[in-house]
Amino acid sequence: MAKQNLAQIPVSELDQAVAISEIDRLILAITEADDAYYAKDKPKISDAEYDALRRRLLLIEKAFPKLKRDDSPSDKVGSAPSAKFEKSTHAVAMLSLDNAFSDDDVVDFDKRVRRFLGLDEKDELAFVAEPKIDGLSLNLRYEDGDLKIAATRGDGAVGENVTTNALVIDDIPRALKNAPDVLEVRGEIYMAHEDFAALNKRLEESQMDPFANPRNAAAGSLRQLDAAITAKRPLKFFAYTWGQVSEPLAETHSGALQKLKKLGFKVNSLAKRCASVEDAIKHYRKIEEHRATLEYDIDGVVYKIDRLDYQQRLGFVSRAPRWAIAHKFPAEKATTILDDIEVQVGRTGKLTPVARLRPVTVGGVVVSNATLHNADEIERKDVRKGDTVIVQRAGDVIPQIVEVDKSKRKKGARKFKFPDRCPACDSHAVNEVNPATGVADVDRRCTGGLICPAQAVERLKHFVSRLAFDIEGLGEKQIASFFEQGIIREPADIFTLRGRQEAGEIDLFTYKNKANGDIYLDKDGHPVATNKKSVQNLFDGIEQRRAISLARFINALGIRHVGETNARLFATHYGDVETFRDAAVGAKNTESDAYAEMLTIDGVGALVAQGVIDFFEEDHNRDAVNRLLSEVTPLPAERPSSDSAVAGKTVVFTGKLELMTRDEAKAQAQGMGAKVAGSVSAKTDILVAGPGAGSKLKKANELGVKVLTEQEWVKLAGSA
Ligand code: IVH
Repeated sequence: MAKQNLAQIPVSELDQAVAISEIDRLILAITEADDAYYAKDKPKISDAEYDALRRRLLLIEKAFPKLKRDDSPSDKVGSAPSAKFEKSTHAVAMLSLDNAFSDDDVVDFDKRVRRFLGLDEKDELAFVAEPKIDGLSLNLRYEDGDLKIAATRGDGAVGENVTTNALVIDDIPRALKNAPDVLEVRGEIYMAHEDFAALNKRLEESQMDPFANPRNAAAGSLRQLDAAITAKRPLKFFAYTWGQVSEPLAETHSGALQKLKKLGFKVNSLAKRCASVEDAIKHYRKIEEHRATLEYDIDGVVYKIDRLDYQQRLGFVSRAPRWAIAHKFPAEKATTILDDIEVQVGRTGKLTPVARLRPVTVGGVVVSNATLHNADEIERKDVRKGDTVIVQRAGDVIPQIVEVDKSKRKKGARKFKFPDRCPACDSHAVNEVNPATGVADVDRRCTGGLICPAQAVERLKHFVSRLAFDIEGLGEKQIASFFEQGIIREPADIFTLRGRQEAGEIDLFTYKNKANGDIYLDKDGHPVATNKKSVQNLFDGIEQRRAISLARFINALGIRHVGETNARLFATHYGDVETFRDAAVGAKNTESDAYAEMLTIDGVGALVAQGVIDFFEEDHNRDAVNRLLSEVTPLPAERPSSDSAVAGKTVVFTGKLELMTRDEAKAQAQGMGAKVAGSVSAKTDILVAGPGAGSKLKKANELGVKVLTEQEWVKLAGSA
């Protein structure tokens, strides 16, 4: 097949094999972006790009439902909670919102809801339209009126317990009068523009890294181990929804907002009840006009169905409610000059071109770098040094170049030639070909592997990152500096630091962190104690990680296409590290049982398998893993268990349903982990038959499939 950029193939033209790779690629990109955004508070791609990845994944999953992976991010929100806080399991999951990007998308939302509820055009369907605050969501649990737990969203099911920090935020009442016995109030923690600017000024004055935007500042400030630091950061809170409640707050969302206000919470004053979808869109325009004058960042408008009985019936689909949607604002743009194009090398050897820009303010943030993604993108947009370019930023950190103003191009401006050698180690850089599809990758990669210093240092940074070994006292900056000084070259070296120190081979007490001039910085960039103490703390942090979960261990290896999610899949499937490694070595032969077995893992496709095989095929990787294994012990993984009565069962609905619409019934079944099929076969476990059921019922009886009436089904669903 001709070299082609996978990402560019329209979904309608994908065949199954290419769709598999494309799903793998998208899930990988989304998982990496989630990790950067949620766990590190440092987004790597723009919201617009992120939304585009998710949308493409959804489209492909719709076109090829059988290829949908069990670990699809379409079904998830956020990222696992950080280890530095205690975990807090949410009584009611904290979900995300689906996005609308145009008025048409919003009109479709109105239609979808009407169809689901069985309403026709003339029936009233009211919404509340309210600003989408760009901060981070927080759940506040009150019992008998007292604030008991404040928890971040985390991965939606389990968040971080940040109660001590929440208690120092003025907008969060510690005690409520006349509140239900159990009341969970949810809303957004944010930082106002003025406070953000003052905080950054303070940080810069004390030689610390400023935050990139108010959202990161809010997240970084709330997630401080020391509540005294949080107290100095002016955080604010808007309440906009709730979790568990012992009695209903109201009959409508607008009523519930009133009630929250009465209880003492700040509710956004731009939230408005709109009698129709047209009115809701009008309110969006009004909020958009006001956007620049608001004292905080918003990135869109959220529409919620006002009637709570409707919300109840609509329920949720995977990661988002059916009763709400976020209408996003278009990205902000500005014009500037592209001074230079630099090529950087990442952990997996990927060469990423970065545009160095004449600094320009886009949506209130000074932008001097933009991503150019890859060679194809430079080629397609024909971006050249010295060009006048239009940059776009959408509430994120790394802006993009959307377009070149060719009318302003200087004479003699030359096309950019993408390097075919690695700028860090001079090895060949190539576009790899996907084994399953024969399609060449869009990205060019350095073939130097571990001899490439850029890759080695990025891998080490990954190794100690939050979802991998997460070693206290050993962050990106320290790793880079240790690497530069030759003290740490590969993961095992981290665990021999103490031994080498004690043997006098190195002297960490005189070691200076060149990057900062400080001895050690903690993960938030603050200097830690004295030199001696920080060395001791570092040793302690390392010791704590000598035993580690297998999933973290595998993730830490930095195998291509194996991030947090896939590492977990391998860990649960193979159970221990030796079995995993032997399987990877055995799977080199794609005719082997080991290879076939690897592909039976739900969520693992040919591309991921190839990443694992390639990794273990390299002697230096196997040796590095062996050296690491003589220092650390990965703990065997536990196998998951499933809990719902109908989880994993295949259900078919037929005949007329009287208590709910077909969509509603389907959603309910899927919500309990069942699969819903369109026809009866030997694989069917339950047939739900309403009046008028015909051939499907007959077939079910022939096959001995369990048949339920709609009432019986509702009872079963209600008891699950
Ligand atoms: S309602 C079940 N309302 O947007 C979903 N969310 O993309 C409940 N957000 O996690 C969320 N402003 O952090 C809702 N007015 C608003 C919001 C809002 C900001 C955030 C929230 C949520 C994310 C979803």
